[in-house]
Amino acid sequence: MRHTTSRQTDAYGGRLKAKLIDSFKKMSLKKKILVTGVSKGIGKAIALDLIGKGHEILGTCRNPHTLSDKISGVKYFALDLKDENSIQNCFEAVGEIDVLINNAGESQMGPAEEMSDKEVRDIFETNFFGTISLTKKFIPAMRRKKKGLIINISSLSGRFAVPFQSSYASSKIALNTWTLCIRKELRPFHVSVSLLEPYFIKSGIKTDYIVDERSAYKKMTDRVSESRKATLNKAKEPEVVAKTVAKIIESKSPKGIYISGGMGPFYALLNRFLTSSRAEKMTNKVTGLTGDDLV
Ligand SMILES: NC(=O)c1ccc[n+]([C@@H]2O[C@H](COP(=O)([O-])OP(=O)(O)OC[C@H]3O[C@@H](n4cnc5c(N)ncnc54)[C@H](OP(=O)(O)O)[C@@H]3O)[C@@H](O)[C@H]2O)c1
Repeated sequence: MRHTTSRQTDAYGGRLKAKLIDSFKKMSLKKKILVTGVSKGIGKAIALDLIGKGHEILGTCRNPHTLSDKISGVKYFALDLKDENSIQNCFEAVGEIDVLINNAGESQMGPAEEMSDKEVRDIFETNFFGTISLTKKFIPAMRRKKKGLIINISSLSGRFAVPFQSSYASSKIALNTWTLCIRKELRPFHVSVSLLEPYFIKSGIKTDYIVDERSAYKKMTDRVSESRKATLNKAKEPEVVAKTVAKIIESKSPKGIYISGGMGPFYALLNRFLTSSRAEKMTNKVTGLTGDDLV
């Protein structure tokens, strides 16, 4: 017959207590997080990383029912940011959350002169109007609870005024300003708002390329497009953005602006100190818009 000594009982009690404290800590650190656009690319990398860290992840894309490579453990919801009914339905299905990560977005490229108003409005609908409409639905509960975090994924292309990305870059700059304004409005309610501006990321992002074969800008757009493809091929993987997102979530006091991806932080710093004409030269060089034979 085995006898349990009081020392063994104490050791067992100590281990049990440590386990309980550990699971309590994990429970209180576990957050309910909504990530938009998790079907691929950056959003998928964010969802994978956060679910691995034990959070409850709710993810969106336009057609979750036809998505073949779902992430185990992620709860999927349909969301089309161009459709107000879809935004409302998604909000109602999801319920209250601790963290909102606005990642879903579309890309567009072409000469500003040749883009139709509809094409420009369309990209603003997803990257700006739809995104802010969704965010506004989650703000009241966060404000009342005096708790919450919103991370808006924008793009460095806005700051650099990337040629032939006028609609995309403008939609992202609009999102930047909106994000930094609401950050100030929500701070007294202890709701944190952060902007994350990735540099080029090798996500497989598809870009609507709008340029006529006979366009006066054809040679230039082709050159910028080729340079963009080459940079994207050498770019960092989406996991680098996921790492920054995790850092924001774990931060006690998230900053207003985060920049992520390869040379992004360096270029952003340089851009702040260069004169506008030097900054313009730098953007032209990075985007391939150099030489005398552009047209
Ligand atoms: N890749 C880069 O170099 C880069 C650089 C800077 C910033 N960013 C930004 O990072 C974010 C993610 O980009 P990514 O490269 O991962 O792109 P991606 O691979 O094309 O993924 C975009 C995601 O957004 C969703 N989405 C697209 N249009 C939508 C709409 N109208 N309504 C709802 N969801 C929509 C897509 O879902 P479905 O199509 O399945 O619905 C998909 O899950 C975007 O905001 C992008 O602007 C990317």
